[in-house]
Amino acid sequence: ASAPIIIQGAMACETESMIAALTNPRDERIGPWRFVSGDYQGVPVVVSVTRIGMSNAAASTVLGIEHFKPIAVINQGTCGGHDPSLHTFDLVIGADSFDYSAWVSQPQVHTASAEDIRFFAYNENDELHYDIKLHADEKLLKIAKEQAKYYTRGKAVAGTIATANSWNRTPGRIHFLNTEYGSLCEEMETHSSAQICKMYGIPFIGLRVLSNTELHSESFNPEAGVISQEFTLMVVKAYYASL
Ligand code: 5AD
Repeated sequence: ASAPIIIQGAMACETESMIAALTNPRDERIGPWRFVSGDYQGVPVVVSVTRIGMSNAAASTVLGIEHFKPIAVINQGTCGGHDPSLHTFDLVIGADSFDYSAWVSQPQVHTASAEDIRFFAYNENDELHYDIKLHADEKLLKIAKEQAKYYTRGKAVAGTIATANSWNRTPGRIHFLNTEYGSLCEEMETHSSAQICKMYGIPFIGLRVLSNTELHSESFNPEAGVISQEFTLMVVKAYYASL
């Protein structure tokens, strides 16, 4: 059998329909994380239920890579909107991502405000860089953009995903992340998986469907998780067809 693609989702509403679509499923646990391998229309895949948040995403990405030796990893699921043009069910193709919880604030400023912070990350050589974003694999990005032409549930855009173990409801902070860092949406896993894949040199992309947006008072709709899985499987098939 050829090497699989790992498809990650944090929650049941982000993984169940992909698992149900597998033939010959093999359901296993490595520690507390669930991995279901099988065939999707002739394509070998592993659906990885990462659980919520950055630590869970990183740990399960390492285990998935070591155990299944994937040719690529896709992190997908729901997200909250940061760009005012986006509504629930719109698709964000993660051209890049950053960790918006990794920041240095300014000295001598007594009232901390969003404008006082600069995002940073340590790269794969342990060097400190400011304003760092990790880019999606070029081929996965190209294929996701092509497949987005067939996306009918909302509009599709490519750009930046902002990751942290946070849920922003304050419009000012959302506006800051959108205007200063170009973030289109927020969630809690993509950049973590991207970092691990970068360390291993494995092709990666994040794909997210808006389940909520504070900017338009749209509250969490789990149906976005189902739609994200549908689109992800389209990308997986097209990626394999291109190999
Ligand atoms: N902010 C943060 N995380 C969100 N998620 C969906 N919408 C948001 C949001 N507005 C996702 C995260 C996490 C779970 C809580 O839902 O990725 O897995």
